[in-house]
This record gives sequence, structure tokens and C-alpha cells, in this order.
Amino acid sequence: MATTNQEDLPVPIYSKLEPVYGTGSQLEEAQLRFNTVNSKFNECFSCSPDVYARSPGRVNLIGEHIDYEGYSVLPMAIRQDTIVAIRKRRDGEKVIRIANVNDKYEFCTYPADPTQEVDLKNHRWGHYFICGYKGFYEYAKIKGLEVGPAVGLDVLVDGTVPTGSGLSSSAAFVCSSTIAIMAAFDVSLAKKELAQLTCDCERHIGTQSGGMDQAISVMARAGFAELIDFNPIRATDVQLPAGGSFVIAHSLAESQKAVTAATNYNNRVVECRLAAIVLAIKLGKKPQEAISEMKTLSDVEGLCVAFADSRGSTDPGLAITELLNEEPYKCEDIEELIGEKLLEVFANSSSSLDVLKAATHFKLFQRASHVYSEAKRVFNFRDAVSSASSEEDKLKKLGDLMNESHYSCSILYECSCPELEELVKICRDNGAFGARLTGAGWGGCAVALVKESIVLQFILNLKDQFYKSRIDKGVIKMNDLGLYVFASKPSSGAAIFKF
Ligand code: GLA
Repeated sequence: MATTNQEDLPVPIYSKLEPVYGTGSQLEEAQLRFNTVNSKFNECFSCSPDVYARSPGRVNLIGEHIDYEGYSVLPMAIRQDTIVAIRKRRDGEKVIRIANVNDKYEFCTYPADPTQEVDLKNHRWGHYFICGYKGFYEYAKIKGLEVGPAVGLDVLVDGTVPTGSGLSSSAAFVCSSTIAIMAAFDVSLAKKELAQLTCDCERHIGTQSGGMDQAISVMARAGFAELIDFNPIRATDVQLPAGGSFVIAHSLAESQKAVTAATNYNNRVVECRLAAIVLAIKLGKKPQEAISEMKTLSDVEGLCVAFADSRGSTDPGLAITELLNEEPYKCEDIEELIGEKLLEVFANSSSSLDVLKAATHFKLFQRASHVYSEAKRVFNFRDAVSSASSEEDKLKKLGDLMNESHYSCSILYECSCPELEELVKICRDNGAFGARLTGAGWGGCAVALVKESIVLQFILNLKDQFYKSRIDKGVIKMNDLGLYVFASKPSSGAAIFKF
């Protein structure tokens, strides 16, 4: 009998909250939230929503900054999510109105025009909804779907994924927005297509993100982490060892991925592309071929493997150590090697041109070394989970890989920050098998693998050793601590609710 893969199914539609939120206090909390969303929607728009969509945030367990290079990653969804309630306007007014349950987010309006550009110079929270809106119409156009002329929408948002935390609040928002719009238009597509579409949608915000966050938000299954492969997108369930628990702890340094893209996130994407081009040329490609064919480090991996093979090794990293300079490259050094101006190479990408404007040098050796070694760690992690070793040995091995990943992120990829370094050290000092930054970095959260039986004490120790001084200084409130440090089980992916 033919079986259907998860990724071929559409996002499920439920008429009850239980399939997503389970029972007990989590269900009660969800009921309360949906009631609030419904009454606030009525208050703002004097009517009820047509449909609701929810999408979770995620914690990445291993595989950082490699999804956009084409390599597999291993995240799990967390229970914190974004709910989007939506209604198509019946009065013909071509306006999109977006409100938030949390008054800290101002009421936003946009024209109901899918061709509008997202105003990147004036960042507003509602832009993330517009990413989904644009993406939906682009998709409809490509597929030739009859969705009629653009109509106005009323939208209410409620998010519990902390923003700037590295837990993908932006993907949770973009995914729930896109799914809500699709549901309002009665358009349904397979999760794998949706994962790709929402990834493309989020790029309208100006970051050249890979597809990890959207893929896990759409395809997660309760109880499992997922190994996510790209090209094509695929999710494989990974059952984590029962005796361990993942504790997520916020460094309280905000990671503003979209705002700092030119110097941080997009800068690394550009550096990886340059590393791929330079490696390909060193490995015999003509400069023009290298520029047109080598978009990511996975594109050049075959050449690196052949190079390693000729020297009796299987490690593509050998090409990096032998062929790239450890010293940072200046713009002119690279232009001389590739025989073209960098402004020409990246002429079609305005966000890459912003990177070039801001950069003085490029660390090709370090960035490529991180990517190849991190890609290997993801598979070592997956193999350790399914190995026949004792539970304790498995947890130790997973912890070691997380520690190595953090070292590589911090030293080679330089995406950590002092607060994350302090937090990761405190996690390790308090008995974590391993701890690392998670998500894009430059702030946001750390994730620690901890023995289930010590989780409560571990969290108390973090409160004492990391958060207490910050509460005393007024950085956060004692009562909010549960939002910043918590243990998390793998939660389920996106869902639509029609009540
Ligand atoms: C962000 C991006 C992801 C991924 C991570 C780093 O979350 O959205 O695609 O690149 O950073 O691993």
C-alpha cells in the first residue's frame, strides 16, 4: 500500500483546539487566548474572523547557519506560537488592517495591493503579514489560480514566541499569516510547497534566510525533532532520548535579524558565496563558470571532496585549509582572483549590495570551515540519537556535539555575543551535557541539553546565577521569568482552525 509522507499533506484543519494544544493547563491557556483573540477582533472590526491559523516557533538543536548553504538542519518546534485571525472584507474597501492583542504593537494599515514593496527603511511589525500577503498572490499568479482581484483584509495577531529571541518569532508570524490568507481564500497546498513558499515570503523582509524556520513551523510533529533536508525540502522524524530535556534560556540581548542584516546575517551569506566561488576557481573552474554556478558552499562540495580524495582524505574541509587564506580577504584581493568587480557579481541583489557597502573584509576560511564542520555535526547528532549506546552515553555525545557547534559559531562564524557566552558557560557549569546558542545568534537564546531529573534545579540555578542580577537592575521583571527560561518538548506544526 502506498504511504503518504507528512510533507505531501496539507496543513490540517481542526474545529477544536485539543489536537494541537492537548489537555490540561495548556488547553485552558489556549482557550483563553482564542477567546481573547475573538473578542478583540470583534472590538476592532465589529465582526468575527472567518478562520484562524497558528504556527509555532522553533529551537534549533544543531545545524546553525548552514540551511542557506543547502545543508540539513535539526530543529524542533516549541509550544509558543503565533495565532492569526483573519476576515475578508465584504465592503470592497481595498485596505488591510492589522491589529495585535498586545497593545505594544501599533495598529497598522496597508493598501490591499499585492505588488506593494515592503518598506525596508521603515521597519514595522505589520510588514511580516505583508510578506505573506505578497507571497500568496505571487504563488497564485505562478500557479494560475483564480483568486480574483485583491480584496481588503482584517487581521488580528497574538504571538507568544518572544521576539528577537532566536526562536523564530518572525517565521511563526509569516507562516501563520500566509496559512491564514490561504485558508481565507480556500487554497490548500502540500506542506513542503508551503514551507518553500513561506521561506520565499519572508525574504521580502530583506534577510536572505534559509528555509529552516518555516520548514519546521509548517512540518513539525508533536514528540519529534525533525531532520530537515533542502532541495527538495523534506522532514524526517527524530526521536530524542527520553532521559534528556532541552532547556531554552534567553540571553536578554535582543537579536534583530532584519535590522542588522547588512553587517550580520546577510554578510555571512555573502561571505559563504564568495568562499564557494574562490574555492571553485582554486579547484580548476573558470572564474565566469564559478560565478554563475556556485551559489552556495554545497555547490562546490563535490570539487572539494574530489580534492580531498586525491590526497587520501574524505574531508572536504581539507580544500579549505589548503586553498583558502586564514587572513581575511580584502575586496580587491577577491576581485583580482575572480576577475570581476564584486558590485557586478551581486548586482541583482540589493541586500547583498548593502553588505558590500558595509564590509571592509571577508573571512572566507573561517566561514567555510564552520559550514562544512557544522554540516557534518548534524549527521553525527542524528546518528548518535539512533545509535545503540546507553542513554547516558548518547546524551553525552549529543552534548559534546552541541558544545562543538557553539565553539564553531562563536569562533569561526562570530555570531555569538558576550551575554550568550556567559549564559552558555553557566549552563555547562550547572551540569548541562552541552549548551549552545540557537538561531541566528548575535543575541537571543541558548539551548542546553540537561538530564530530565535535574531540570528544575538547573533552571533555579540559572535564575540565581544569570537572571537575578538582571532582575535587580530592572532588565526584566521577576514575574516574567517563565517567558525567558523554560524546558521544552517537541511540539506540533502549523494548523488551521474553523470553529
Ligand atoms: C535564522 C534564519 C534561518 C537560519 C538561522 C541560522 O533563524 O531564518 O534560516 O539560517 O538563522 O541557523
